[in-house]
Amino acid sequence: MIILETERLILRTLELEDIESVMNFWGDVEVMKYCGGAGTKERELKALKYYINMQNEKGFSPYLIIRKESSEILGVCGFNPPTNGYDTELMYHFAKKYWGQGYATEAAKACIEYAKKHLKIKRIGASIAPENIVSQKVLEKLGFDYIGVKWCEDTNQNEPYFEMIF
Ligand SMILES: CC(C)(COP(=O)(O)OP(=O)(O)OC[C@H]1O[C@@H](n2cnc3c(N)ncnc32)[C@H](O)[C@@H]1OP(=O)(O)O)[C@@H](O)C(=O)NCCC(=O)NCCS
Repeated sequence: MIILETERLILRTLELEDIESVMNFWGDVEVMKYCGGAGTKERELKALKYYINMQNEKGFSPYLIIRKESSEILGVCGFNPPTNGYDTELMYHFAKKYWGQGYATEAAKACIEYAKKHLKIKRIGASIAPENIVSQKVLEKLGFDYIGVKWCEDTNQNEPYFEMIF
């Protein structure tokens, strides 16, 4: 199901058939360096099932990002449910060859607008590893505020935490 379109991108819900495509980023050690590590096909199939259920139950999830011009699958961007009482979390993972072209910012902006309009949430958070400067830059460009350091379950460490309140 297509959720959103931007100038260059289509955002649609994940499907089990996307497994080969998502391995290009979820299976890549460098992409997942600050996000809990690269996964095996088996682990990422479970992740796909989890996100498909989440979309059905909660009405949000991470979305697959497709470049309109070429139909290439670039990555994922969207939402994870709140953990530890924190906010619904914004997440984005893109395959390396597509970095540095403004795609994460474009996709995340659209997701935020979508959340404001269609989801019953009042704020979005994001935990970013201290060394992940590029990702922090994306959050700054989107207008997130730095809140402080919080425990991150995915990476098992304290991480800078950013938030956007609608
Ligand atoms: C984080 C990520 C999604 C960014 O994707 P992207 O499409 O390259 O992001 P954008 O192009 O929209 O923006 C990146 C910004 O960082 C800047 N940047 C790139 N490399 C940089 C560096 N080494 N130091 C500082 N800034 C840098 C870019 O110039 C750009 O800013 P600008 O628009 O002001 O020029 C991508 O790098 C990625 O998938 N990383 C691995 C997964 C990840 O870390 N996810 C988030 C946390 S779990």
